[in-house]
Formats: sequence, structure tokens, C-alpha cells
Amino acid sequence: MLRTHTCGELRLSNNNETITLTGWVQKSRDLGGMTFVDLRDRYGITQLAFNMDNNADLCARARKLGREFVLKVTGTVKERESKNLNMQTGEIEISVTDFDVLNESITPPFTIEENTDGGDDIRMKYRYLDLRRASVRANLQLRHKVAQQTRNFLDLQDFIEVETPVLIKSTPEGARDFVVPSRMNPGEFYALPQSPQTFKQLLMISGFDRYYQIVKCFRDEDLRADRQPEFTQIDCEMSFVEQEDILNMFEGLVKHLFKNVKGIDIESLPRMTYADAMKYYGSDKPDTRFEMKFVEVNDVVKGKDFPVFDNAELVVGICAKGCAEYTRKQLDELTDFVKRPQIGATGLVYARVNADGTIKSSVDKFYDEAALKLWAERFNAQPGDLILLLAGQADKTRKALNELRLEMGTRLGLRDKNTFSCLWVVDFPLLEFNEEDNRYFAMHHPFTSPKPEDIHLLNSFETLGQVRANAYDMVINGVEVGGGSVRIFNKDLQARMFEVLGFTAEEAQHQFGFLMDAFQYGAPPHAGIAFGFDRLCSLFGGADSIRDFIAFPKNNSGRDIMIDAPSTIDEKQLKELSIKTTV
Ligand code: AMO
Repeated sequence: MLRTHTCGELRLSNNNETITLTGWVQKSRDLGGMTFVDLRDRYGITQLAFNMDNNADLCARARKLGREFVLKVTGTVKERESKNLNMQTGEIEISVTDFDVLNESITPPFTIEENTDGGDDIRMKYRYLDLRRASVRANLQLRHKVAQQTRNFLDLQDFIEVETPVLIKSTPEGARDFVVPSRMNPGEFYALPQSPQTFKQLLMISGFDRYYQIVKCFRDEDLRADRQPEFTQIDCEMSFVEQEDILNMFEGLVKHLFKNVKGIDIESLPRMTYADAMKYYGSDKPDTRFEMKFVEVNDVVKGKDFPVFDNAELVVGICAKGCAEYTRKQLDELTDFVKRPQIGATGLVYARVNADGTIKSSVDKFYDEAALKLWAERFNAQPGDLILLLAGQADKTRKALNELRLEMGTRLGLRDKNTFSCLWVVDFPLLEFNEEDNRYFAMHHPFTSPKPEDIHLLNSFETLGQVRANAYDMVINGVEVGGGSVRIFNKDLQARMFEVLGFTAEEAQHQFGFLMDAFQYGAPPHAGIAFGFDRLCSLFGGADSIRDFIAFPKNNSGRDIMIDAPSTIDEKQLKELSIKTTV
């Protein structure tokens, strides 16, 4: 080793020891008689002191050190005169006796300190420099810890980690595939896996019984803060189990991770049906850190000649505690918020319950005090509360109110990043109707089992939308961190499912013949789940974006601006791959 200690290690107890450190120059300060240099490595920062009186030559050399030069420094640990108790090594400094410059650095494009002056793009272009910053490195250390703890837990439960291939045939998870041309098979393409779904099912047929893999998945979909084109799953599957077994096992994993990564005891993981999640929160991933549940009021508000409510399929609202004193400006802001095209409400009706108990609404013309009292009762609104109502087509109105509820939660400080509220959402519909394509799609994926008591509903097109699945999501703070299902393991039911999804028998055989064939060789009952590993890490780290927890992420256009990918390839390569270009 070139060093005796790391830059995060030395304390007063090392006083007067002769040590050698290696690291990067974070910054230096020249105070005339003294020069101080902050030396940084992965473990921390140690102050180096060069004294003009002791060694003028050395001090002169130190003054020439630039940011990010790589040094090997020998010296003596000394107690600092002015201590910095915010730093772990802040009570000592190194009185340097000699140093070597192991490598020089050109001036970095941004300062590599906690508060950097680099914007997002420049930091991404020089991500290897950004990763020198302690906060960014801490995110990856957290990621490492979550992975280690996941492996510990699953290993103790007898799960076997198996790697599945990356060059595969397309798996239908709903997003577009990234494809890779095959040189040896002209005109044919591999797909990168959207998940190892079919492989983990095949491993169950092989008798592996308990499988997991921390695995890269690839989806060519529109990107958002919690979506990357390549992301990582903790992918798991078990045989001879029912839904209850999966929920218990992975409740165990999540509790283990909270305990061992965050030091938090999660007591219980409540379960909510999909139907209730939509009815009370307008979302299949409700943020349950705060209540503010939806209250449906059709029966109370209709029939008073207010056309907006009379013509609406659903009138539904929330009660914002303590917000009765919102100003006109604040209420206008909320109205503008719900009218934004992404949210799509036509307007917002409100009623204030004043401190003296009187109620004032934005639709007083139609509703007298007695009528408004009924509203307040229904919302259990107390003096000081504000009732906010939306009206319109049921699904759209619930979705819009979900956004408004989240906005109010944020405004009221109810979405604290250090508070965690986890739950299972269960009993998802098996199928989802797509108006554009005029057909049903699998809500989870085509291998998900319907609830046995709903299988008969698969027989008629009219009842397809009512079939519930043995499918479940884990939701933490309004983020879908995991999802899975009990699988179909019977060839005929799987064939029926493909039929419902609009596959001809030939298409189903062409795309999934390998799986249907395998089902004939004694497939065990099986079920599984996959967690979004990046999402879990960002939740644990209290961040909004998963990018901060990925060493080399893509930007919002799916580009890696550091290596400049994707990029064109030359004619020769295209020819070898039998790809004709139109250019
Ligand atoms: P699903 O598609 O629900 O299920 O994915 C599982 C979890 O992966 C995370 N996730 C993502 N994270 C970051 N970027 C993305 N683009 C992205 N897409 C999904 C989410 C999600 O809950 N094979 C099934 C699992 C199973 O049935 O066992 C599957 O992939 O947190």
C-alpha cells in the first residue's frame, strides 16, 4: 500500500504519529507563513499543513499544487490550533515533511466539493469527477448496503441467485424493447430483457424453488424522475406458494432492509385493495403518509341546480385541515393547478369552514348554509378546515383529485422524506381496456393468474374488466417500489389468457411456445415479485430522482452524455449486421 492511513481515519489519538496519506487536492489556502491543503479520498478529508519557517522549499512546492492533483504525503499528526468539529478529522492536521505528486490534473470543469458550482449537464458529462463528491459517493455506498442486506436476507431464506441471459427474445411487459441485431443471423434481432420474467418461471419448472437476482432490466419508455431506460430489479420467484406466502416473505425483506439500512422498525404493512386505493386516493400507489382521503358526495350535492355537479358522474373532494384561511390568491393557484392540461379538471369548488362555524363556499348561489352544513358533516370538517371539490367523469376526476391531494400534502408539509409509510395494494384487475387499440391488455403481464373465483368471468367479453388478479404491488410513500403476482401454471389457462389478449394460437405459440411447452412438464404452482432496486435506494436516501443512485445514469433523452451514447455506427459495421440505411 502506498499509504498507512486513509484521509478519514486520523484522530487526536494518533497525535505525533508519522503517517503517509494518499489522495486528491480538494483545495488549498495560502496564508503567507502557512499553506493548508485539504487532501480527499473516499474516506474523508484531512488537512495538510506546510510551514514556511520549517521548510520553505516544501511550502513553495505546496503552493503550486492545483485542484485534483494526486499526492502521496508523509508527515506527523498534530493537534490543530483551530479545530473544525464538523469534520471527523477536524481536530488534527498533518505537519507535512515530504510529498510526491503522483499525478497532475488539469483544472476540473466544476469544483468537486459539497456545494458544487457545476450544473446537471456538466456534472453528467464528467460523472467520474462528480462521483468524487462525498454526497454522490454516499448514495452509491447506500446502494451497496441495500444490495448486501438484500443478499443476506434472501440467502438466509434459501434463495439461489441465478443469472439469466441478457440477449433474449422479447418479453411482453408493456414497454418497447431495446433490440440488438444478430450478425450471425442476418435480419434477426435479440431483445434486451424488460425483466427476467419468463426465465424465472422456467427456473421454477426446473425445480429451483426459490430464485433471486439483482438484475439489469431494459425498457424503451418515456423517462421520468423514477424511470431509467436501464434500471435494476431485485427479481424473485418461489414455488409451491400462495399469494399470502409471497406477501409475508417480502414483507420480511422490506422490514429487514428498513431495520438494517435505516435503523427503522416497520411495524405492519397494511393491505389495501386496488378498488379502495382508487376510491379513497384516486391512485393505485397512494401516498399514505397522510390521510386526506377522498369523500364522494354525489348524494349530498346533486339536485340544487348547479349544472357542473348535476351533470357530473362523480363529485368528490378532500378536506384540507387548517386551510380555511387560504387567500383568494392561494385558491386561484390551486384552481390553476387542477386546470393544467396534465391534470385536466375543469374547475375547483371550495368551501371554508370559518372559525365561528359558518361556511362560505365558492358556489353560495346554489348552496345555502344548511346545505353546506351537510357537506361539512360528510367531510367531518371542523372550523378552520377547507373543503376542495372536483366534478366530472369518475376516473378522470379521481386522477385529478389525486394530484390535488398530493399537492396539498406537499404544501402542508405532510410528505416528509424521513417518514415512511409502506403498504401492499392487492386485488388488481387482471385486464385493462385500451380505447385506442379497442382491446384488453394485461395490467401486470400475461402470466398473471386470475383469482380462481373470477376465472369464469374470462368467458365473456362483457365481464373481462371485472376479473381480478392475484397480483400485488408494494407502495412506499406513494412510489410503486415492487410488483408481482401468482402465475398461471396451466397450459390451457395460459392459452386462454393469450386468446383474451388478442393473440392467435399461432402467434402465442411463436412468441411463448417455449413457456407453454415447458408447462407440460410438471410446472409447479409458483409466484413472485420484483422490486425496483433504484427506487428503493432513492427512497432510503430521501431523494426524488433515481439518477442520483445510479453510478452512470442516462439523461432525460435516454443519453449517456459522458460516453456520448447512443451514437451512429460506421457503414462497415452496419453491413456486417445486414442493416440497410435509408441515408
Ligand atoms: P414491474 O414491471 O412492475 O414487474 O417492475 C417491477 C418494479 O421495477 C421498477 N421499475 C422501474 N424502475 C426504474 N425505471 C424503470 N423504467 C422501471 N420500470 C419498473 C418498479 C416496479 O415496481 N416481471 C415483473 C415482476 C413480477 O411479476 O415478478 C415486473 O417486471 O419499482
